[in-house]
This record gives sequence, C-alpha cells and structure tokens, in this order.
Amino acid sequence: MAVTHDASPQARRVGESATEMAQLVLPQHANVHGSALGGTVMHWMDLAAAVVANRHCRRPVVTAAIDEMSFLAPILVGQLALIQARITLVDRSSMEIRVDVESEDLLSGEHRHTVTAYFTFVAIDATTRRPVGVPRLLLETDEERTEHARALERRRLRLERLEARRREEQSHEEQRNNG
Ligand SMILES: CC(C)(COP(=O)(O)OP(=O)(O)OC[C@H]1O[C@@H](n2cnc3c(N)ncnc32)[C@H](O)[C@@H]1OP(=O)(O)O)[C@@H](O)C(=O)NCCC(=O)NCCS
Repeated sequence: MAVTHDASPQARRVGESATEMAQLVLPQHANVHGSALGGTVMHWMDLAAAVVANRHCRRPVVTAAIDEMSFLAPILVGQLALIQARITLVDRSSMEIRVDVESEDLLSGEHRHTVTAYFTFVAIDATTRRPVGVPRLLLETDEERTEHARALERRRLRLERLEARRREEQSHEEQRNNG
C-alpha cells in the first residue's frame, strides 16, 4: 500500500518524544492476589507508547502490533508502576517503541523490573485513516544506534511473521470460498 509523505517531514531526536509515566497501583487495578492485572499494565504501556508515537510524528496513530511480553515480577497494590517509553526505529509510516516497566516500592524505595515490550504504531491521515509518512529519526548516541540495529532485526522478523499470517488467512479464505 502506498504511503503518503509530507514534502519535508522534519527529522526528530529520540529524546524529543521519550515519555515517562508513573501510576500508583490501586485496588481497582488489581487481581485477586493483590497485584496489578497484566491487561491493566499492558493498557498503561500502550498509552505511553502512543504518546511517544504522537510526539514523534504529531499525527493520529494506531497500535499495529505488540511483540511478545513476559511479566517477570508482580507490581503490588500500593506500589508505583514506572513506565518509560522511547522510540527505537522509524520506517515509512511505522514506528517501533520500546516500553520498560518497573515497580517502585514507595516505603523501601526498591525497584524491580516488571516487563519490556516493543510496540509498533502506524501514523494515519486524520481523514482517510490510511498510513502516512513520519519524520525520520536522528540517532545521536551509541546506545540509540545499538538499539536501532536490534530494532531493524526485530522489524524483519515481525514482517516475516505478518506475511506468513496473511498467506495463511488467504489460504483459509480460499478454502472457505471453495466450499
Ligand atoms: C495498522 C494499519 C493502519 C495498517 O494498515 P495496512 O493497510 O495494513 O497498511 P500497510 O500494509 O500499507 O502497512 C503500513 C505500515 O504498517 C506496518 N504494519 C502493518 N501491520 C503491521 C503489523 N501487524 N506489524 C508491524 N507492522 C505493521 C507496515 O509494515 C507498514 O509500515 P511502513 O509504512 O513503515 O513500511 C491497519 O492495519 C489498521 O488500521 N489496523 C487496526 C489498528 C487499530 O485499530 N489498533 C487498535 C487496536 S484494535
């Protein structure tokens, strides 16, 4: 599908869109064991990633994909969920955003890593809702360049999986149509 490009979208730095959110885990966020529900943490991650994508392209964005997620430690009621998100890769209309979550115990000050995941957002035109081009990403530090190199490989694997899934769906569709 063709992606519409602005004449000269201005390149942006990673730091211009990086976002941090803190969420106090309350009983309404918790499962029966007194820790944050996985789906609630995913929701907070999705929001933080959306803010990053919006800040980078200043366009409406949608979540296209979320890579695998493993929750390594619970975040208990009364603890803080610290959500950090930053852009790692920009393609034509898509952006990969890394989201790291850790817990902070407000009484002891202890921090624990909870989960890291990669989100793909796509910028869309507000009227047509079709994908549109996004500004390029300026990589300034060695850490950003390393993360970007890893992101290129993740994107390659992600698109391979997407292509395989689309082929599978097409073959199911053909089988259904052939009775
Ligand atoms: C995301 C969406 C706009 C892409 O539309 P599309 O017709 O598949 O567009 P294209 O095939 O031209 O792909 C556009 C870009 O999205 C990327 N993309 C699309 N689906 C993707 C996926 N599952 N994983 C990663 N990237 C994806 C493509 O690689 C391409 O990137 P590029 O422009 O940087 O090269 C469309 O699938 C959509 O609207 N999905 C629903 C989004 C949504 O509502 N999310 C909220 C949860 S329901």
